[in-house]
Amino acid sequence: MKLKKKIKVAIDSPAAAGAGTQAKLISKHYNLFYLDTGKIYRLIANIKIKRPKKYNYSFLEKTMKNLNIKNLQNKKLLTNEVGNLASIISKDKKIRKLVHAFQIQCAYYPPKRYNGSCLDGRDITYKIVPDADFKFFITASTKTRALRRYKELKGINKKTTLNDVLKSIKKRDKSDYNRKISPLKKTKDSILINTTNFSKRACFLKIKKIMDKKIIA
Ligand code: C5P
Repeated sequence: MKLKKKIKVAIDSPAAAGAGTQAKLISKHYNLFYLDTGKIYRLIANIKIKRPKKYNYSFLEKTMKNLNIKNLQNKKLLTNEVGNLASIISKDKKIRKLVHAFQIQCAYYPPKRYNGSCLDGRDITYKIVPDADFKFFITASTKTRALRRYKELKGINKKTTLNDVLKSIKKRDKSDYNRKISPLKKTKDSILINTTNFSKRACFLKIKKIMDKKIIA
């Protein structure tokens, strides 16, 4: 599919609301370059866990300069432990600054073969891509999100319990919504998509309808 004009899609969401799934479906359908920005914070958190001696700003700066999208696909980045630490380190202003340039590059200068970009995270709609053509805030009830993440994690770590996942999601919500720097919020110009009672396909069709209306008009 080729679009008349390049587009930018920005998505913000709390943990495990289905934003990644929708962002992937949108990116595939409209041929957009996709970046899951949470994975960058998770990668940094993983460095802190696995290579604590290397964990300093100059090493992280180098890591960001040489970052390849493939580095973000490591399944180890998906664990609760990494997610919880990502939520803590992402409050650090200096870390956010290091990550900023990579996100801007992906959003505004994706490889030419794409029709644009689609980024999801916590501050994408108002900080990283404030002039996005489409802005969505994707959410779901806490219970639904915990259950979805639990099913995902169970395949990786058999010891995971639903209660642990629920606790971790609540903790991360509290931290992501209330932090001083780049808190998670729904901007006035973002369209709310609540995925609680809808299938992946139904949510995508809703988003597609909104996007096609503007793209085709
Ligand atoms: O989206 P995901 O759950 O992988 O993100 C992990 C953590 O990274 C979040 O809880 C959040 O604290 C942080 N994050 C952020 N800004 C983003 C994306 C993620 O602060 N744009």
